[in-house]
Amino acid sequence: MKIKIAPSILSADFGKLNEEIRSIDDYCDLIHVDVMDGHFVPNITIGAPVVKCIKSKKPLDVHLMIKNPELYIEDFVKAGAKIITVHSEVVKDLKKLILKIKSYGVLAGVSIKPKTKVSVLYKVLDLLDMVLIMTVEPGFGGQSFMEDMMPKIKYLRSKKPNLDIEVDGGINDKTAKIAISNGANILVAGSYIFGAKDRKKAIKILCQK
Ligand code: DX5
Ligand code: ZN
Repeated sequence: MKIKIAPSILSADFGKLNEEIRSIDDYCDLIHVDVMDGHFVPNITIGAPVVKCIKSKKPLDVHLMIKNPELYIEDFVKAGAKIITVHSEVVKDLKKLILKIKSYGVLAGVSIKPKTKVSVLYKVLDLLDMVLIMTVEPGFGGQSFMEDMMPKIKYLRSKKPNLDIEVDGGINDKTAKIAISNGANILVAGSYIFGAKDRKKAIKILCQK
Protein backbone atom coordinates (compact mmCIF):
# COMPACT_ATOMS: atom_id res chain seq x y z
CA MET A 1 0.00 0.00 0.00
CA LYS A 2 1.10 3.56 -0.60
CA ILE A 3 2.30 5.20 2.60
CA LYS A 4 0.47 8.43 3.38
CA ILE A 5 1.74 11.13 5.70
CA ALA A 6 -0.57 13.21 7.88
CA PRO A 7 1.31 16.01 9.66
CA SER A 8 -0.35 16.86 12.98
CA ILE A 9 -0.81 20.61 13.29
CA LEU A 10 -0.74 20.24 17.07
CA SER A 11 3.01 20.79 16.80
CA ALA A 12 2.66 23.77 14.45
CA ASP A 13 2.63 27.41 15.55
CA PHE A 14 -1.11 28.15 15.84
CA GLY A 15 -0.35 31.87 15.57
CA LYS A 16 0.56 31.38 11.91
CA LEU A 17 -1.30 28.20 11.17
CA ASN A 18 -1.87 28.66 7.45
CA GLU A 19 1.75 29.65 6.90
CA GLU A 20 2.78 26.47 8.74
CA ILE A 21 0.42 24.41 6.60
CA ARG A 22 1.86 25.96 3.42
CA SER A 23 5.28 24.66 4.45
CA ILE A 24 4.11 21.05 4.22
CA ASP A 25 1.04 21.11 1.99
CA ASP A 26 2.76 20.08 -1.25
CA TYR A 27 4.56 17.15 0.34
CA CYS A 28 1.99 15.48 2.61
CA ASP A 29 -1.20 13.52 1.90
CA LEU A 30 -3.56 14.65 4.67
CA ILE A 31 -3.65 17.37 7.34
CA HIS A 32 -4.19 15.82 10.78
CA VAL A 33 -6.24 18.04 13.10
CA ASP A 34 -6.32 17.15 16.80
CA VAL A 35 -9.48 18.35 18.51
CA MET A 36 -9.35 18.07 22.33
CA ASP A 37 -11.96 19.10 24.87
CA GLY A 38 -10.23 18.97 28.26
CA HIS A 39 -12.59 16.15 29.34
CA PHE A 40 -11.76 13.10 27.25
CA VAL A 41 -8.12 14.19 27.36
CA PRO A 42 -6.37 16.58 29.76
CA ASN A 43 -5.75 19.24 27.13
CA ILE A 44 -7.80 21.71 25.07
CA THR A 45 -7.00 22.61 21.47
CA ILE A 46 -9.28 23.93 18.76
CA GLY A 47 -12.88 23.58 17.62
CA ALA A 48 -14.78 23.80 14.35
CA PRO A 49 -14.47 27.62 13.95
CA VAL A 50 -10.68 27.34 13.78
CA VAL A 51 -10.78 24.25 11.57
CA LYS A 52 -12.89 26.28 9.16
CA CYS A 53 -10.02 28.78 8.79
CA ILE A 54 -7.52 26.14 7.68
CA LYS A 55 -6.38 26.60 4.10
CA SER A 56 -5.04 23.41 2.56
CA LYS A 57 -5.20 21.54 -0.72
CA LYS A 58 -5.15 18.29 1.21
CA PRO A 59 -8.06 16.52 2.95
CA LEU A 60 -8.53 17.44 6.60
CA ASP A 61 -8.22 14.37 8.81
CA VAL A 62 -10.02 15.40 11.99
CA HIS A 63 -9.22 13.38 15.13
CA LEU A 64 -11.91 14.08 17.72
CA MET A 65 -10.62 13.52 21.24
CA ILE A 66 -13.84 14.77 22.79
CA LYS A 67 -16.78 13.49 24.79
CA ASN A 68 -20.16 13.34 23.05
CA PRO A 69 -18.64 13.50 19.54
CA GLU A 70 -22.08 12.86 18.00
CA LEU A 71 -23.07 16.44 18.90
CA TYR A 72 -20.30 17.98 16.80
CA ILE A 73 -20.12 15.91 13.60
CA GLU A 74 -22.10 18.36 11.51
CA ASP A 75 -20.00 21.31 12.72
CA PHE A 76 -16.80 19.62 11.61
CA VAL A 77 -18.27 18.56 8.28
CA LYS A 78 -19.26 22.19 7.66
CA ALA A 79 -15.78 23.26 8.74
CA GLY A 80 -14.28 21.15 5.95
CA ALA A 81 -13.39 17.78 7.51
CA LYS A 82 -12.98 14.97 4.98
CA ILE A 83 -12.24 12.22 7.49
CA ILE A 84 -13.79 12.26 10.95
CA THR A 85 -12.37 9.92 13.58
CA VAL A 86 -14.05 9.36 16.94
CA HIS A 87 -12.82 7.45 19.97
CA SER A 88 -14.46 4.11 20.71
CA GLU A 89 -14.13 4.81 24.45
CA VAL A 90 -16.81 7.53 24.40
CA VAL A 91 -19.28 6.10 21.91
CA LYS A 92 -22.14 3.89 23.04
CA ASP A 93 -23.40 2.88 19.61
CA LEU A 94 -20.40 2.89 17.27
CA LYS A 95 -22.32 1.56 14.32
CA LYS A 96 -24.91 4.31 14.55
CA LEU A 97 -22.28 7.05 14.78
CA ILE A 98 -20.22 5.68 11.89
CA LEU A 99 -23.33 5.66 9.71
CA LYS A 100 -24.12 9.20 10.80
CA ILE A 101 -20.63 10.40 9.83
CA LYS A 102 -20.89 8.66 6.47
CA SER A 103 -24.33 10.14 5.84
CA TYR A 104 -22.61 13.53 5.45
CA GLY A 105 -20.47 12.14 2.64
CA VAL A 106 -17.22 12.12 4.63
CA LEU A 107 -15.05 9.18 5.64
CA ALA A 108 -15.47 7.62 9.08
CA GLY A 109 -12.67 6.48 11.37
CA VAL A 110 -12.56 5.01 14.86
CA SER A 111 -9.60 5.35 17.19
CA ILE A 112 -8.57 3.30 20.20
CA LYS A 113 -6.41 4.44 23.11
CA PRO A 114 -3.42 2.27 24.14
CA LYS A 115 -5.38 0.46 26.86
CA THR A 116 -8.37 -0.28 24.62
CA LYS A 117 -8.52 -3.71 23.05
CA VAL A 118 -8.64 -3.97 19.29
CA SER A 119 -11.58 -6.37 19.65
CA VAL A 120 -13.95 -3.41 20.26
CA LEU A 121 -13.59 -2.71 16.53
CA TYR A 122 -14.50 -6.14 15.22
CA LYS A 123 -18.22 -5.57 14.86
CA VAL A 124 -17.78 -2.36 12.86
CA LEU A 125 -14.70 -3.19 10.78
CA ASP A 126 -16.70 -3.68 7.58
CA LEU A 127 -18.28 -0.23 7.94
CA LEU A 128 -15.12 1.71 8.68
CA ASP A 129 -13.02 3.72 6.24
CA MET A 130 -10.14 4.02 8.67
CA VAL A 131 -8.87 2.78 12.02
CA LEU A 132 -6.57 5.00 14.09
CA ILE A 133 -4.28 3.17 16.48
CA MET A 134 -2.91 5.41 19.22
CA THR A 135 0.71 4.72 20.08
CA VAL A 136 0.74 7.29 22.93
CA GLU A 137 -1.87 8.30 25.49
CA PRO A 138 -3.89 10.93 23.62
CA GLY A 139 -3.55 14.54 24.74
CA PHE A 140 -0.12 15.82 23.85
CA GLY A 141 2.47 15.82 21.08
CA GLY A 142 6.07 14.83 21.62
CA GLN A 143 5.56 11.60 23.59
CA SER A 144 7.34 8.28 23.05
CA PHE A 145 6.05 5.63 20.66
CA MET A 146 4.56 2.54 22.34
CA GLU A 147 5.84 -0.33 20.29
CA ASP A 148 3.69 -2.79 22.20
CA MET A 149 0.69 -1.48 20.21
CA MET A 150 2.04 -3.11 17.03
CA PRO A 151 0.17 -6.42 17.46
CA LYS A 152 -3.10 -4.45 17.11
CA ILE A 153 -1.99 -3.15 13.71
CA LYS A 154 -0.64 -6.51 12.64
CA TYR A 155 -3.89 -8.23 13.51
CA LEU A 156 -6.06 -5.64 11.74
CA ARG A 157 -3.91 -5.78 8.64
CA SER A 158 -4.18 -9.58 8.54
CA LYS A 159 -7.97 -9.28 8.62
CA LYS A 160 -8.29 -6.25 6.30
CA PRO A 161 -5.68 -6.02 3.56
CA ASN A 162 -7.14 -2.80 2.10
CA LEU A 163 -8.26 -0.91 5.20
CA ASP A 164 -6.62 2.44 5.96
CA ILE A 165 -4.76 1.92 9.22
CA GLU A 166 -3.43 5.13 10.71
CA VAL A 167 -0.92 5.28 13.52
CA ASP A 168 -0.65 8.32 15.79
CA GLY A 169 1.91 9.20 18.45
CA GLY A 170 5.69 9.24 18.60
CA ILE A 171 6.27 8.71 14.89
CA ASN A 172 9.80 9.53 13.74
CA ASP A 173 12.33 8.14 11.24
CA LYS A 174 12.81 4.96 13.30
CA THR A 175 9.30 4.25 14.58
CA ALA A 176 7.74 4.93 11.15
CA LYS A 177 9.55 1.89 9.79
CA ILE A 178 8.25 -0.25 12.66
CA ALA A 179 4.65 0.92 12.12
CA ILE A 180 4.87 0.37 8.35
CA SER A 181 6.35 -3.11 8.71
CA ASN A 182 3.43 -4.05 10.96
CA GLY A 183 0.90 -2.87 8.39
CA ALA A 184 0.14 0.80 9.03
CA ASN A 185 -0.29 2.85 5.84
CA ILE A 186 -1.09 6.34 7.22
CA LEU A 187 1.42 7.93 9.57
CA VAL A 188 0.55 10.92 11.73
CA ALA A 189 3.57 12.93 12.81
CA GLY A 190 3.59 16.22 14.69
CA SER A 191 6.83 17.05 16.45
CA TYR A 192 8.99 15.09 14.00
CA ILE A 193 7.77 17.09 11.00
CA PHE A 194 7.18 20.53 12.51
CA GLY A 195 10.36 20.30 14.58
CA ALA A 196 12.48 19.45 11.54
CA LYS A 197 14.75 22.02 9.87
CA ASP A 198 13.75 20.61 6.49
CA ARG A 199 10.09 19.56 6.70
CA LYS A 200 9.94 18.31 3.11
CA LYS A 201 12.88 16.00 3.79
CA ALA A 202 11.34 14.82 7.07
CA ILE A 203 8.15 13.78 5.25
CA LYS A 204 10.19 11.98 2.59
CA ILE A 205 12.12 10.05 5.26
CA LEU A 206 8.89 8.92 6.93
CA CYS A 207 7.62 7.40 3.68
CA GLN A 208 10.65 5.16 3.25
CA LYS A 209 9.83 1.54 3.93
C1 DX5 B 1 -1.93 13.13 20.49
C2 DX5 B 1 -2.35 13.50 19.09
C3 DX5 B 1 -1.27 13.36 18.08
C4 DX5 B 1 -0.06 14.22 18.32
C5 DX5 B 1 1.11 13.49 17.75
O1 DX5 B 1 -3.05 13.04 21.29
O2 DX5 B 1 -3.43 12.70 18.68
O3 DX5 B 1 -1.79 13.56 16.77
O4 DX5 B 1 -0.13 15.48 17.74
O5 DX5 B 1 2.27 14.19 18.07
P1 DX5 B 1 3.71 13.53 17.93
O6 DX5 B 1 3.88 13.13 16.49
O7 DX5 B 1 4.64 14.63 18.34
O8 DX5 B 1 3.74 12.35 18.84
ZN1 ZN C 1 -4.12 12.78 16.54
